[in-house]
Amino acid sequence: MKLSATFGAAERVSTDVIIISLFENTKKIPSELNALNKATGEAISSLLKNGDFTGKLNETTIIPTDKKIIPKRILLVGLGKSADFSLDKVRQAAGTATRVVQGKKFKNASILLYRMEIKGISLEDVAHSVAEGILLSLYNFTMYKTLKKEEKPSITNYSLVVQKNDVLKSIKSVVRKAEIVAEAVCFTRDIVNMAGSDATPTFLANKAKEIAKKPGVKCKTLSGPEMKKLGMNGILNVSRGSSEQPKFIILEYNTKNKSNDTVVLIGKGVTFDSGGISLKPGAGMDMMKADMSGAAAVLGAFKAISNLKPSSHIVGLIPCTENMPGSRALKPGDIIKCMSGKTVEVLNTDAEGRLILADAICYAKRYKPDAVIDIATLTGACVAALGTFASGMLGNNDELKDRIKQAGENCHERVWELPLWKEYYELIKSNIADIKNTGGKYAGTITAACFLGEFVEDYPWVHLDIAGTFLVEKDTPYIRKGASGVGVRLLIDLMQNWKKMPDASKKNKK
Ligand code: BES
Ligand code: MN
Ligand code: ZN
Repeated sequence: MKLSATFGAAERVSTDVIIISLFENTKKIPSELNALNKATGEAISSLLKNGDFTGKLNETTIIPTDKKIIPKRILLVGLGKSADFSLDKVRQAAGTATRVVQGKKFKNASILLYRMEIKGISLEDVAHSVAEGILLSLYNFTMYKTLKKEEKPSITNYSLVVQKNDVLKSIKSVVRKAEIVAEAVCFTRDIVNMAGSDATPTFLANKAKEIAKKPGVKCKTLSGPEMKKLGMNGILNVSRGSSEQPKFIILEYNTKNKSNDTVVLIGKGVTFDSGGISLKPGAGMDMMKADMSGAAAVLGAFKAISNLKPSSHIVGLIPCTENMPGSRALKPGDIIKCMSGKTVEVLNTDAEGRLILADAICYAKRYKPDAVIDIATLTGACVAALGTFASGMLGNNDELKDRIKQAGENCHERVWELPLWKEYYELIKSNIADIKNTGGKYAGTITAACFLGEFVEDYPWVHLDIAGTFLVEKDTPYIRKGASGVGVRLLIDLMQNWKKMPDASKKNKK
Protein backbone atom coordinates (compact mmCIF):
# COMPACT_ATOMS: atom_id res chain seq x y z
CA MET A 1 0.00 0.00 0.00
CA LYS A 2 1.23 3.47 -0.86
CA LEU A 3 0.72 6.06 1.85
CA SER A 4 1.15 9.65 0.74
CA ALA A 5 0.37 13.24 1.64
CA THR A 6 -1.41 15.50 -0.83
CA PHE A 7 -2.79 19.02 -0.88
CA GLY A 8 -6.34 19.72 -1.96
CA ALA A 9 -9.94 20.49 -1.12
CA ALA A 10 -12.00 17.69 0.40
CA GLU A 11 -14.68 17.78 -2.30
CA ARG A 12 -12.18 17.48 -5.12
CA VAL A 13 -10.11 14.45 -4.07
CA SER A 14 -10.41 11.57 -6.49
CA THR A 15 -10.93 8.63 -4.13
CA ASP A 16 -13.28 5.79 -3.22
CA VAL A 17 -13.81 7.38 0.15
CA ILE A 18 -12.89 10.61 1.88
CA ILE A 19 -12.56 10.14 5.62
CA ILE A 20 -13.58 13.08 7.78
CA SER A 21 -13.17 13.10 11.53
CA LEU A 22 -15.48 15.13 13.74
CA PHE A 23 -15.56 15.90 17.44
CA GLU A 24 -18.48 14.83 19.57
CA ASN A 25 -21.40 17.27 19.58
CA THR A 26 -20.12 19.35 16.70
CA LYS A 27 -22.75 22.08 16.33
CA LYS A 28 -21.36 23.96 13.40
CA ILE A 29 -19.32 22.16 10.78
CA PRO A 30 -15.79 23.48 10.28
CA SER A 31 -15.43 25.92 7.38
CA GLU A 32 -13.09 23.57 5.49
CA LEU A 33 -16.12 21.33 5.00
CA ASN A 34 -18.55 24.01 3.82
CA ALA A 35 -18.06 23.43 0.10
CA LEU A 36 -18.32 19.67 0.44
CA ASN A 37 -21.35 19.94 2.69
CA LYS A 38 -23.10 22.30 0.35
CA ALA A 39 -22.39 20.25 -2.77
CA THR A 40 -23.82 17.13 -1.12
CA GLY A 41 -27.07 18.86 -0.15
CA GLU A 42 -25.97 19.47 3.44
CA ALA A 43 -25.33 15.74 3.94
CA ILE A 44 -23.04 16.21 6.94
CA SER A 45 -24.84 19.00 8.72
CA SER A 46 -28.20 17.24 8.52
CA LEU A 47 -26.75 14.03 9.98
CA LEU A 48 -25.38 16.07 12.84
CA LYS A 49 -28.65 17.93 13.28
CA ASN A 50 -30.71 14.73 13.36
CA GLY A 51 -28.32 13.19 15.84
CA ASP A 52 -27.65 10.33 13.42
CA PHE A 53 -23.95 10.97 13.83
CA THR A 54 -22.81 12.23 17.21
CA GLY A 55 -19.02 12.04 16.87
CA LYS A 56 -18.46 9.62 19.76
CA LEU A 57 -14.97 8.15 19.64
CA ASN A 58 -14.76 5.47 16.93
CA GLU A 59 -18.36 5.97 15.74
CA THR A 60 -18.56 5.70 11.92
CA THR A 61 -21.09 6.48 9.17
CA ILE A 62 -20.76 6.12 5.41
CA ILE A 63 -22.50 8.70 3.21
CA PRO A 64 -22.85 8.07 -0.55
CA THR A 65 -22.09 11.21 -2.56
CA ASP A 66 -24.05 10.32 -5.74
CA LYS A 67 -21.46 11.99 -7.96
CA LYS A 68 -22.24 15.37 -6.44
CA ILE A 69 -18.59 15.65 -5.46
CA ILE A 70 -15.51 13.83 -6.72
CA PRO A 71 -14.99 11.42 -3.76
CA LYS A 72 -17.35 8.45 -4.17
CA ARG A 73 -18.24 8.35 -0.51
CA ILE A 74 -17.74 10.19 2.74
CA LEU A 75 -16.79 8.25 5.85
CA LEU A 76 -17.39 10.15 9.06
CA VAL A 77 -15.46 9.01 12.10
CA GLY A 78 -15.91 10.27 15.64
CA LEU A 79 -13.01 11.73 17.61
CA GLY A 80 -14.84 11.99 20.94
CA LYS A 81 -15.07 15.18 22.99
CA SER A 82 -12.69 17.94 21.95
CA ALA A 83 -11.82 18.47 25.63
CA ASP A 84 -10.50 14.88 25.76
CA PHE A 85 -8.52 15.19 22.55
CA SER A 86 -5.20 13.36 22.42
CA LEU A 87 -2.96 11.81 19.81
CA ASP A 88 -4.19 8.39 20.80
CA LYS A 89 -7.76 9.39 19.89
CA VAL A 90 -6.33 10.28 16.48
CA ARG A 91 -4.64 6.88 16.16
CA GLN A 92 -7.85 5.18 17.19
CA ALA A 93 -10.09 7.11 14.83
CA ALA A 94 -7.68 6.59 11.91
CA GLY A 95 -7.46 2.89 12.74
CA THR A 96 -11.22 2.51 13.05
CA ALA A 97 -11.87 4.29 9.75
CA THR A 98 -9.23 2.19 8.04
CA ARG A 99 -10.83 -1.02 9.29
CA VAL A 100 -14.16 0.13 7.79
CA VAL A 101 -12.48 0.97 4.47
CA GLN A 102 -10.73 -2.40 4.54
CA GLY A 103 -13.95 -4.23 5.46
CA LYS A 104 -15.68 -2.70 2.44
CA LYS A 105 -12.73 -3.69 0.25
CA PHE A 106 -12.25 -0.17 -1.13
CA LYS A 107 -9.11 0.24 -3.22
CA ASN A 108 -8.18 3.73 -2.20
CA ALA A 109 -8.93 6.13 0.59
CA SER A 110 -8.12 9.67 1.65
CA ILE A 111 -8.25 11.14 5.09
CA LEU A 112 -8.69 14.84 5.63
CA LEU A 113 -6.25 16.57 7.95
CA TYR A 114 -7.64 19.82 9.23
CA ARG A 115 -7.96 21.92 12.35
CA MET A 116 -6.69 19.44 14.84
CA GLU A 117 -3.96 21.69 16.16
CA ILE A 118 -5.70 22.03 19.49
CA LYS A 119 -4.27 21.66 23.01
CA GLY A 120 -0.87 22.65 21.65
CA ILE A 121 -0.66 19.52 19.49
CA SER A 122 1.00 20.21 16.15
CA LEU A 123 -0.38 19.17 12.78
CA GLU A 124 2.81 17.15 12.26
CA ASP A 125 2.11 15.11 15.38
CA VAL A 126 -1.50 14.61 14.30
CA ALA A 127 -0.34 13.43 10.87
CA HIS A 128 2.16 11.05 12.46
CA SER A 129 -0.59 9.54 14.60
CA VAL A 130 -2.99 9.31 11.66
CA ALA A 131 -0.36 7.45 9.65
CA GLU A 132 0.47 5.18 12.60
CA GLY A 133 -3.21 4.43 13.18
CA ILE A 134 -3.69 3.54 9.52
CA LEU A 135 -0.61 1.36 9.16
CA LEU A 136 -0.87 -0.41 12.50
CA SER A 137 -4.58 -1.18 12.04
CA LEU A 138 -3.88 -2.93 8.73
CA TYR A 139 -1.52 -5.41 10.37
CA ASN A 140 -2.59 -8.98 9.91
CA PHE A 141 -0.59 -12.07 10.81
CA THR A 142 -0.88 -14.35 7.79
CA MET A 143 2.40 -16.25 7.89
CA TYR A 144 0.78 -19.61 8.56
CA LYS A 145 -2.38 -19.13 6.44
CA THR A 146 -2.36 -21.09 3.21
CA LEU A 147 -4.87 -18.79 1.51
CA LYS A 148 -2.86 -15.61 1.84
CA LYS A 149 -4.55 -13.75 -1.01
CA GLU A 150 -7.81 -13.34 0.85
CA GLU A 151 -5.98 -11.69 3.68
CA LYS A 152 -4.19 -9.03 1.66
CA PRO A 153 -5.39 -5.46 2.28
CA SER A 154 -7.60 -4.19 -0.56
CA ILE A 155 -6.32 -0.64 -0.21
CA THR A 156 -3.49 0.22 -2.57
CA ASN A 157 -3.43 4.02 -2.20
CA TYR A 158 -4.06 5.99 0.94
CA SER A 159 -3.53 9.72 1.17
CA LEU A 160 -3.48 12.25 3.95
CA VAL A 161 -5.06 15.38 2.48
CA VAL A 162 -3.75 18.65 3.91
CA GLN A 163 -5.43 22.01 3.55
CA LYS A 164 -2.34 24.19 3.46
CA ASN A 165 0.30 23.81 0.76
CA ASP A 166 3.10 25.13 2.98
CA VAL A 167 2.86 22.18 5.40
CA LEU A 168 2.85 19.52 2.68
CA LYS A 169 6.61 19.02 2.75
CA SER A 170 6.82 18.53 6.51
CA ILE A 171 3.76 16.25 6.51
CA LYS A 172 5.36 14.13 3.81
CA SER A 173 8.45 13.60 5.92
CA VAL A 174 6.32 12.81 8.97
CA VAL A 175 4.43 10.17 6.98
CA ARG A 176 7.73 8.60 5.95
CA LYS A 177 8.83 8.47 9.60
CA ALA A 178 5.54 6.89 10.65
CA GLU A 179 6.04 4.26 7.96
CA ILE A 180 9.42 3.38 9.44
CA VAL A 181 7.92 3.12 12.93
CA ALA A 182 4.93 1.05 11.80
CA GLU A 183 7.14 -1.28 9.79
CA ALA A 184 9.22 -1.90 12.91
CA VAL A 185 6.15 -2.55 15.08
CA CYS A 186 4.75 -5.01 12.53
CA PHE A 187 8.13 -6.72 12.26
CA THR A 188 8.09 -7.19 16.04
CA ARG A 189 4.47 -8.38 16.05
CA ASP A 190 5.33 -10.95 13.39
CA ILE A 191 8.19 -12.53 15.28
CA VAL A 192 6.27 -12.53 18.56
CA ASN A 193 3.25 -14.18 16.89
CA MET A 194 5.42 -16.87 15.32
CA ALA A 195 5.53 -20.41 16.68
CA GLY A 196 8.14 -21.04 19.34
CA SER A 197 9.72 -23.81 17.29
CA ASP A 198 10.23 -21.37 14.42
CA ALA A 199 11.27 -18.20 16.26
CA THR A 200 14.21 -19.88 17.99
CA PRO A 201 17.30 -18.17 19.43
CA THR A 202 19.11 -18.89 16.14
CA PHE A 203 16.23 -17.34 14.21
CA LEU A 204 16.38 -14.17 16.33
CA ALA A 205 20.14 -14.01 15.85
CA ASN A 206 19.65 -14.17 12.08
CA LYS A 207 17.03 -11.40 12.23
CA ALA A 208 19.53 -9.25 14.12
CA LYS A 209 22.15 -9.89 11.43
CA GLU A 210 19.67 -8.77 8.78
CA ILE A 211 19.03 -5.54 10.67
CA ALA A 212 22.78 -4.98 10.84
CA LYS A 213 23.03 -4.90 7.06
CA LYS A 214 22.07 -1.24 7.29
CA PRO A 215 25.00 1.18 7.46
CA GLY A 216 25.75 2.33 10.98
CA VAL A 217 24.60 -0.92 12.64
CA LYS A 218 26.88 -3.74 13.72
CA CYS A 219 25.88 -7.14 15.01
CA LYS A 220 27.74 -9.88 16.82
CA THR A 221 26.18 -13.04 18.18
CA LEU A 222 27.73 -15.27 20.81
CA SER A 223 26.95 -18.96 20.96
CA GLY A 224 27.34 -21.41 23.86
CA PRO A 225 31.14 -21.86 23.93
CA GLU A 226 31.76 -18.10 23.67
CA MET A 227 29.29 -17.45 26.47
CA LYS A 228 31.05 -20.09 28.50
CA LYS A 229 34.34 -18.21 28.19
CA LEU A 230 32.64 -15.09 29.51
CA GLY A 231 31.03 -16.99 32.37
CA MET A 232 27.48 -16.25 31.26
CA ASN A 233 26.11 -18.99 33.46
CA GLY A 234 22.67 -17.48 33.88
CA ILE A 235 21.87 -17.97 30.20
CA LEU A 236 23.79 -21.24 29.90
CA ASN A 237 22.01 -22.82 32.87
CA VAL A 238 18.56 -21.82 31.65
CA SER A 239 19.35 -23.35 28.24
CA ARG A 240 20.53 -26.67 29.70
CA GLY A 241 17.15 -28.35 29.40
CA SER A 242 16.74 -27.47 25.73
CA SER A 243 18.21 -28.86 22.53
CA GLU A 244 18.14 -25.39 20.96
CA GLN A 245 21.45 -23.52 21.05
CA PRO A 246 21.33 -20.32 23.12
CA LYS A 247 22.45 -17.05 21.52
CA PHE A 248 23.58 -13.74 22.92
CA ILE A 249 22.88 -10.99 20.41
CA ILE A 250 24.84 -7.74 20.47
CA LEU A 251 23.64 -4.93 18.23
CA GLU A 252 25.42 -1.63 18.10
CA TYR A 253 24.36 1.55 16.37
CA ASN A 254 26.42 4.70 15.92
CA THR A 255 29.54 3.19 17.53
CA LYS A 256 31.82 6.12 16.79
CA ASN A 257 29.46 8.79 18.03
CA LYS A 258 30.73 10.25 21.24
CA SER A 259 28.78 13.52 21.21
CA ASN A 260 25.66 11.97 22.72
CA ASP A 261 25.10 9.32 25.38
CA THR A 262 25.55 5.57 25.22
CA VAL A 263 22.25 3.83 25.89
CA VAL A 264 21.99 0.06 26.33
CA LEU A 265 18.69 -1.67 25.54
CA ILE A 266 18.28 -5.20 26.87
CA GLY A 267 15.44 -7.53 25.83
CA LYS A 268 14.42 -10.86 27.38
CA GLY A 269 14.57 -13.49 24.65
CA VAL A 270 13.07 -16.68 26.09
CA THR A 271 11.76 -18.16 22.85
CA PHE A 272 9.62 -20.65 24.75
CA ASP A 273 9.08 -20.73 28.50
CA SER A 274 7.73 -24.09 29.61
CA GLY A 275 8.81 -23.24 33.15
CA GLY A 276 11.57 -25.86 32.98
CA ILE A 277 11.53 -28.50 35.72
CA SER A 278 9.18 -26.18 37.66
CA LEU A 279 6.82 -26.88 34.76
CA LYS A 280 3.98 -24.48 34.02
CA PRO A 281 0.39 -25.77 33.88
CA GLY A 282 -0.79 -26.78 30.39
CA ALA A 283 -3.57 -24.22 30.02
CA GLY A 284 -2.23 -21.10 28.31
CA MET A 285 1.30 -22.44 28.02
CA ASP A 286 1.15 -21.79 24.26
CA MET A 287 1.40 -18.06 25.03
CA MET A 288 4.87 -18.61 26.35
CA LYS A 289 6.07 -18.65 22.74
CA ALA A 290 5.87 -14.88 23.21
CA ASP A 291 8.27 -14.80 26.15
CA MET A 292 10.73 -13.18 23.76
CA SER A 293 8.58 -10.05 23.39
CA GLY A 294 11.23 -7.90 25.06
CA ALA A 295 13.86 -9.23 22.65
CA ALA A 296 11.53 -8.60 19.71
CA ALA A 297 10.88 -5.05 20.92
CA VAL A 298 14.61 -4.28 21.01
CA LEU A 299 15.05 -5.81 17.54
CA GLY A 300 12.13 -3.74 16.22
CA ALA A 301 13.48 -0.57 17.82
CA PHE A 302 16.86 -1.21 16.20
CA LYS A 303 15.24 -1.74 12.83
CA ALA A 304 13.64 1.70 13.09
CA ILE A 305 16.72 3.30 14.64
CA SER A 306 18.83 2.21 11.66
CA ASN A 307 16.50 4.28 9.44
CA LEU A 308 15.63 7.20 11.70
CA LYS A 309 19.25 7.74 12.76
CA PRO A 310 18.99 9.31 16.21
CA SER A 311 22.18 10.87 17.57
CA SER A 312 23.11 8.59 20.49
CA HIS A 313 25.26 5.49 20.60
CA ILE A 314 22.80 2.64 21.15
CA VAL A 315 23.64 -0.92 22.13
CA GLY A 316 21.15 -3.80 22.06
CA LEU A 317 21.84 -6.86 24.22
CA ILE A 318 19.52 -9.80 23.74
CA PRO A 319 20.01 -13.04 25.67
CA CYS A 320 18.10 -15.78 23.84
CA THR A 321 17.27 -19.29 25.00
CA GLU A 322 14.45 -21.76 25.50
CA ASN A 323 13.42 -22.77 29.02
CA MET A 324 12.74 -26.48 28.75
CA PRO A 325 12.61 -29.44 31.16
CA GLY A 326 15.10 -31.71 29.33
CA SER A 327 17.11 -34.32 31.19
CA ARG A 328 20.06 -31.97 31.61
CA ALA A 329 17.87 -29.12 32.80
CA LEU A 330 18.60 -26.81 35.70
CA LYS A 331 16.94 -28.12 38.86
CA PRO A 332 15.20 -26.36 41.70
CA GLY A 333 17.75 -26.08 44.49
CA ASP A 334 20.72 -25.72 42.13
CA ILE A 335 23.20 -22.97 42.82
CA ILE A 336 24.66 -21.08 39.89
CA LYS A 337 27.32 -18.39 39.59
CA CYS A 338 26.28 -15.60 37.25
CA MET A 339 28.67 -13.63 35.06
CA SER A 340 29.07 -10.96 37.73
CA GLY A 341 30.32 -13.57 40.18
CA LYS A 342 27.21 -13.50 42.37
CA THR A 343 25.81 -16.89 43.35
CA VAL A 344 22.12 -17.61 42.93
CA GLU A 345 20.01 -20.27 44.57
CA VAL A 346 17.50 -21.32 41.92
CA LEU A 347 14.35 -22.12 43.85
CA ASN A 348 12.08 -22.06 40.84
CA THR A 349 13.28 -22.76 37.31
CA ASP A 350 10.29 -20.80 36.00
CA ALA A 351 11.89 -17.59 37.27
CA GLU A 352 14.35 -17.89 34.37
CA GLY A 353 14.05 -14.43 32.82
CA ARG A 354 15.95 -12.75 35.63
CA LEU A 355 18.78 -15.30 35.32
CA ILE A 356 19.44 -14.51 31.67
CA LEU A 357 18.93 -10.76 32.14
CA ALA A 358 21.45 -10.77 35.00
CA ASP A 359 24.22 -11.75 32.56
CA ALA A 360 23.11 -9.17 30.00
CA ILE A 361 23.02 -6.42 32.63
CA CYS A 362 26.50 -7.46 33.74
CA TYR A 363 27.73 -7.44 30.13
CA ALA A 364 26.34 -3.92 29.68
CA LYS A 365 29.01 -2.53 32.01
CA ARG A 366 31.74 -2.71 29.35
CA TYR A 367 30.03 0.04 27.36
CA LYS A 368 30.21 2.51 30.28
CA PRO A 369 26.54 3.27 29.64
CA ASP A 370 24.82 6.54 30.48
CA ALA A 371 21.56 4.58 30.74
CA VAL A 372 20.48 0.94 30.67
CA ILE A 373 16.90 -0.09 29.96
CA ASP A 374 15.73 -3.67 30.06
CA ILE A 375 12.37 -4.83 28.76
CA ALA A 376 10.94 -8.23 29.62
CA THR A 377 7.82 -10.35 30.01
CA LEU A 378 9.08 -11.01 33.50
CA THR A 379 6.32 -11.69 36.00
CA GLY A 380 2.71 -12.86 36.14
CA ALA A 381 2.52 -10.64 39.23
CA CYS A 382 2.76 -7.59 36.97
CA VAL A 383 -0.42 -8.64 35.19
CA ALA A 384 -2.09 -9.02 38.59
CA ALA A 385 -0.93 -5.58 39.70
CA LEU A 386 -1.47 -3.45 36.58
CA GLY A 387 -3.60 -5.52 34.23
CA THR A 388 -3.15 -4.97 30.52
CA PHE A 389 -3.12 -1.18 30.24
CA ALA A 390 0.29 -0.36 31.66
CA SER A 391 3.74 -1.89 31.74
CA GLY A 392 5.49 -2.00 35.09
CA MET A 393 8.44 0.36 35.53
CA LEU A 394 11.10 0.14 38.22
CA GLY A 395 14.51 1.69 38.35
CA ASN A 396 17.19 3.60 40.20
CA ASN A 397 17.09 6.98 38.47
CA ASP A 398 14.33 9.59 38.44
CA GLU A 399 15.46 11.41 35.30
CA LEU A 400 15.46 8.18 33.27
CA LYS A 401 12.09 7.12 34.71
CA ASP A 402 10.62 10.53 33.81
CA ARG A 403 11.86 10.24 30.25
CA ILE A 404 10.41 6.77 29.85
CA LYS A 405 7.13 7.83 31.39
CA GLN A 406 6.90 10.72 28.92
CA ALA A 407 7.76 8.48 25.95
CA GLY A 408 5.05 6.08 27.12
CA GLU A 409 2.49 8.89 27.20
CA ASN A 410 3.54 10.15 23.78
CA CYS A 411 2.97 6.83 22.07
CA HIS A 412 0.31 5.50 24.43
CA GLU A 413 2.47 2.61 25.59
CA ARG A 414 1.98 3.71 29.13
CA VAL A 415 4.14 2.68 32.06
CA TRP A 416 3.41 2.78 35.77
CA GLU A 417 6.03 2.89 38.45
CA LEU A 418 6.35 0.40 41.30
CA PRO A 419 8.70 1.04 44.23
CA LEU A 420 12.14 -0.50 44.50
CA TRP A 421 12.84 0.22 48.15
CA LYS A 422 15.70 -1.45 49.93
CA GLU A 423 13.31 -3.38 52.19
CA TYR A 424 12.27 -5.41 49.17
CA TYR A 425 15.87 -6.42 48.51
CA GLU A 426 15.77 -8.34 51.82
CA LEU A 427 13.22 -10.71 50.31
CA ILE A 428 15.66 -12.22 47.82
CA LYS A 429 18.50 -12.95 50.26
CA SER A 430 19.40 -16.65 50.26
CA ASN A 431 20.51 -18.76 53.22
CA ILE A 432 23.10 -20.64 51.26
CA ALA A 433 23.95 -18.41 48.27
CA ASP A 434 24.17 -14.64 47.74
CA ILE A 435 20.61 -14.32 46.48
CA LYS A 436 17.70 -16.53 45.42
CA ASN A 437 15.64 -16.27 42.27
CA THR A 438 12.23 -15.99 43.92
CA GLY A 439 11.10 -13.56 46.56
CA GLY A 440 8.08 -15.26 48.13
CA LYS A 441 4.43 -14.78 47.43
CA TYR A 442 4.13 -11.00 47.66
CA ALA A 443 5.31 -8.20 45.34
CA GLY A 444 6.58 -10.57 42.66
CA THR A 445 7.25 -7.83 40.13
CA ILE A 446 9.27 -5.84 42.63
CA THR A 447 11.34 -8.75 43.91
CA ALA A 448 12.10 -9.74 40.30
CA ALA A 449 13.30 -6.18 39.66
CA CYS A 450 15.38 -6.30 42.88
CA PHE A 451 17.03 -9.42 41.54
CA LEU A 452 18.02 -7.50 38.40
CA GLY A 453 19.04 -4.54 40.55
CA GLU A 454 21.62 -6.79 42.24
CA PHE A 455 23.53 -6.87 38.93
CA VAL A 456 23.21 -3.20 38.06
CA GLU A 457 26.31 -1.08 38.56
CA ASP A 458 26.54 2.63 39.04
CA TYR A 459 24.58 3.79 36.02
CA PRO A 460 20.95 4.90 35.54
CA TRP A 461 18.81 1.83 34.98
CA VAL A 462 15.14 1.14 34.35
CA HIS A 463 13.38 -2.19 34.07
CA LEU A 464 10.12 -2.50 32.14
CA ASP A 465 7.88 -5.49 32.86
CA ILE A 466 5.64 -6.03 29.82
CA ALA A 467 3.98 -9.29 30.99
CA GLY A 468 0.57 -7.58 30.87
CA THR A 469 1.02 -5.56 27.69
CA PHE A 470 2.84 -7.78 25.18
CA LEU A 471 -0.44 -9.19 23.96
CA VAL A 472 -3.96 -7.98 23.33
CA GLU A 473 -6.80 -10.41 23.81
CA LYS A 474 -9.27 -8.79 21.46
CA ASP A 475 -9.01 -6.40 18.51
CA THR A 476 -8.64 -2.72 19.42
CA PRO A 477 -8.80 0.13 16.87
CA TYR A 478 -5.17 -0.23 15.84
CA ILE A 479 -3.92 -3.37 17.54
CA ARG A 480 -5.27 -6.66 16.32
CA LYS A 481 -5.66 -9.60 18.69
CA GLY A 482 -2.24 -11.10 19.30
CA ALA A 483 1.18 -9.54 19.78
CA SER A 484 0.94 -5.81 20.46
CA GLY A 485 4.53 -4.91 19.58
CA VAL A 486 4.69 -3.00 22.87
CA GLY A 487 8.00 -1.32 23.59
CA VAL A 488 8.94 -0.63 19.99
CA ARG A 489 7.27 2.75 19.76
CA LEU A 490 8.24 3.61 23.31
CA LEU A 491 11.93 2.91 22.73
CA ILE A 492 11.89 4.73 19.39
CA ASP A 493 10.22 7.78 20.92
CA LEU A 494 12.70 7.73 23.79
CA MET A 495 15.73 7.51 21.49
CA GLN A 496 14.40 10.08 19.02
CA ASN A 497 14.04 12.62 21.83
CA TRP A 498 17.22 11.64 23.70
CA LYS A 499 19.39 14.39 25.12
CA LYS A 500 22.54 13.88 27.13
CA MET A 501 21.68 12.88 30.67
CA PRO A 502 22.50 15.84 32.92
CA ASP A 503 25.43 15.01 35.22
CA ALA A 504 23.41 15.97 38.27
CA SER A 505 20.84 13.30 37.45
CA LYS A 506 23.34 10.46 37.33
CA LYS A 507 23.05 9.77 41.03
CA ASN A 508 21.15 6.56 41.48
CA LYS A 509 19.04 5.51 44.37
CA LYS A 510 18.84 2.08 45.90
N1 BES B 1 7.54 -15.52 31.42
C1 BES B 1 7.02 -15.64 32.73
C2 BES B 1 6.17 -14.44 33.15
C3 BES B 1 4.89 -14.21 32.41
C4 BES B 1 3.69 -14.67 32.91
C5 BES B 1 4.87 -13.48 31.25
C6 BES B 1 2.52 -14.41 32.25
C7 BES B 1 3.70 -13.22 30.58
C8 BES B 1 2.50 -13.68 31.08
C9 BES B 1 8.17 -15.75 33.71
O1 BES B 1 9.29 -16.42 33.26
C10 BES B 1 7.66 -16.52 34.88
O2 BES B 1 7.34 -17.66 34.70
N2 BES B 1 7.60 -15.89 36.04
C11 BES B 1 7.12 -16.52 37.22
C12 BES B 1 8.05 -16.16 38.35
C13 BES B 1 7.81 -16.90 39.62
C14 BES B 1 8.15 -18.37 39.43
C15 BES B 1 8.66 -16.31 40.71
C16 BES B 1 5.71 -16.03 37.49
O3 BES B 1 5.42 -14.87 37.24
O4 BES B 1 4.90 -16.84 37.91
MN1 MN C 1 9.18 -18.48 33.51
ZN1 ZN D 1 9.61 -16.37 31.25
